[in-house]
Amino acid sequence: MSRKLNVAIVGATGVVGSIMRRLLAEERDKWGEIRLIASPRSAGKVLNVGDEAITVQAIGPDVFAGIDIAHFDLPDEVSAEWVPVAAAAGAVVIDKSAHFRMDPEVPLVCREANPEAARIRPKGIIANANCTTLALIPTLAALNEAFGLVSMSVASYQAASGSGKEGLEALYAQVDKTAGIERIGTDHGDVRAVLGAEYDTPFGAPLALNVVPKVGGWKDGGWTSEELKVRNESRKILGLPELKVASTCVRVPVAVGHSQAVHATFANEVSVEAAHRVLDAAEGVDLVDDPANGVYPMPIDSVGKHGTQVGRVRQSIDFPNSLEFFVVGDNLMKGAALNSIETAELVRQELEANA
Ligand SMILES: NC(=O)c1ccc[n+]([C@@H]2O[C@H](COP(=O)([O-])OP(=O)(O)OC[C@H]3O[C@@H](n4cnc5c(N)ncnc54)[C@H](OP(=O)(O)O)[C@@H]3O)[C@@H](O)[C@H]2O)c1
Repeated sequence: MSRKLNVAIVGATGVVGSIMRRLLAEERDKWGEIRLIASPRSAGKVLNVGDEAITVQAIGPDVFAGIDIAHFDLPDEVSAEWVPVAAAAGAVVIDKSAHFRMDPEVPLVCREANPEAARIRPKGIIANANCTTLALIPTLAALNEAFGLVSMSVASYQAASGSGKEGLEALYAQVDKTAGIERIGTDHGDVRAVLGAEYDTPFGAPLALNVVPKVGGWKDGGWTSEELKVRNESRKILGLPELKVASTCVRVPVAVGHSQAVHATFANEVSVEAAHRVLDAAEGVDLVDDPANGVYPMPIDSVGKHGTQVGRVRQSIDFPNSLEFFVVGDNLMKGAALNSIETAELVRQELEANA
């Protein structure tokens, strides 16, 4: 292809959009025009991609003309409306909302597990999985290939930024409010009194100095939408429709970085040493596992990293062929923007090879 592909960030003003701008700036020479799109509220704002100042355009039927690849970073219902418009205008859409993920005609792509799926996109749409699942996939894909993954039980510790800029701002505002709480001799119920009005936040409960065992909306059987996403999206990406998954998703007062405690069972015998060898060589995985020297994965160390971190790998005592481990991934990087950039690279190479 003689020309460079044009790319759009749709939702460029959001938290994921801001990381998209940073990552695109790092590979600016690969692309032609970079177009920034958001709601009419943001039209006319000037945002930077590296040192290039770009005026944000309002989303609309004509805004996708000439775009080859469109990264969508919008709320579910807004993606549902506009993704088909962008695809009809000729763009390959990489959508991070939940709306198209389980559509059988939309591939759900993570390059460490199923890069070939990006080529088969009958609707012109590729979906990006949710941030919790994406933190797990590089580790699970590698262990599955080596030992045959049969089942997993996951407990998540998810950051406030998983709820977008509103979630991040709500956490910091709550942390500020708790600063005035009397620390010694206090009735710790005071925290609830201070934050008692915080039910309107994206978390549905106070988050500062608290944990909230609800991420997403309620579904049948007492599950949350996030818990079902971990199950269904892991099965789809790994190509394991029978994978047994139990998950409990919890919001914690962390700004960025989703953590997960995983119990995984395999078809074949597994050991810590063998798992270390596999994970050490795995693409997209940083093995961070030297507990005797205080080395283990934590969200505070995951921020901005390309790899997802895995550590605390232990052989299960009471369960055969099973491991326990702790995985941490920056929800805005591999959990969102970075995975989208990696998928776009697969599409770019394909389109340029076919030109
Ligand atoms: N945050 C994460 O960790 C994460 C991880 C994986 C996937 N995702 C998904 O990525 C998407 C974006 O999430 P986010 O966290 O970046 O959200 P966010 O910070 O709330 O940003 C939302 C973006 O959508 C735009 N928008 C909202 N309503 C719109 C409308 N009616 N028309 C056009 N644009 C509109 C906003 O533009 P204005 O500023 O103009 O309102 C903003 O750019 C969501 O689907 C989310 O589920 C998020």
